[in-house]
Amino acid sequence: MLRKLFRRLRAVLPARRADTWAPQERWNRSWSAPDYVPGWEARQIPTVLREAVESGWLPPRGSLLDIGCGAGDIAAWLAGTGYRVTAVDFAASAIARASARHQAPELRYAVTDICQAWPDPDVYDCLFDRGCLHGIPDADVEQYVANVAASSRAGGRFLLLFKTPRNQERSAAQSPAYALEARLAALQGSFAIERRREIDMLTGDEIGRETTYPGFALWLVRR
Ligand SMILES: C[S@@+](CC[C@H](N)C(=O)[O-])C[C@H]1O[C@@H](n2cnc3c(N)ncnc32)[C@H](O)[C@@H]1O
Repeated sequence: MLRKLFRRLRAVLPARRADTWAPQERWNRSWSAPDYVPGWEARQIPTVLREAVESGWLPPRGSLLDIGCGAGDIAAWLAGTGYRVTAVDFAASAIARASARHQAPELRYAVTDICQAWPDPDVYDCLFDRGCLHGIPDADVEQYVANVAASSRAGGRFLLLFKTPRNQERSAAQSPAYALEARLAALQGSFAIERRREIDMLTGDEIGRETTYPGFALWLVRR
């Protein structure tokens, strides 16, 4: 009876557009769809990350926080190379997918919103974020910065891969949430920028003609 009523209501009410959901709800719904395979999912480990590991820029065997881990492919690779990884995502369905896909002794998961008050964070040697900060609403950036700063030991390393729109001017004006500089300004109170480089977000290589997801790699060091 109730089900019938619900079905009738759905037929007459306008469908809720996906972009009207709050970010957490939106991500949760995406990750819970079995056929959801995002275009940016790790088809390869980004070169800049591989280099940061191989060069020891990310201290070998250190503790590492993967922020917004999604399906956990990168977190699992990091755990496989010897890091003690905590992979967090605010979408419970992302964590469910990641933990179904990857289990390892040095890999643990948590459903955590990096923009919520985080009363007792562990302190990590390394932080990694690909694709989380760029989508955080402006109003939450301050809490993101406070949490990542509290999670990093002095001298700790933070490799940030930050997506930028293809048409920087148009999109930045339309969507200030994408503005890299404002976010960097917020981070700079706690982190020194050692290096930055424009990259293809999918491969971590230099930007090329085929780049569909341009962005920046930032090598940050906790002050
Ligand atoms: C573009 S995906 C990147 C996933 C993964 N890092 C990768 O490179 O494959 C961004 C991820 O960040 C997560 N996310 C967004 N905002 C978050 C927040 N406030 N706290 C924790 N996770 C968040 C989303 O659920 C999503 O899984």
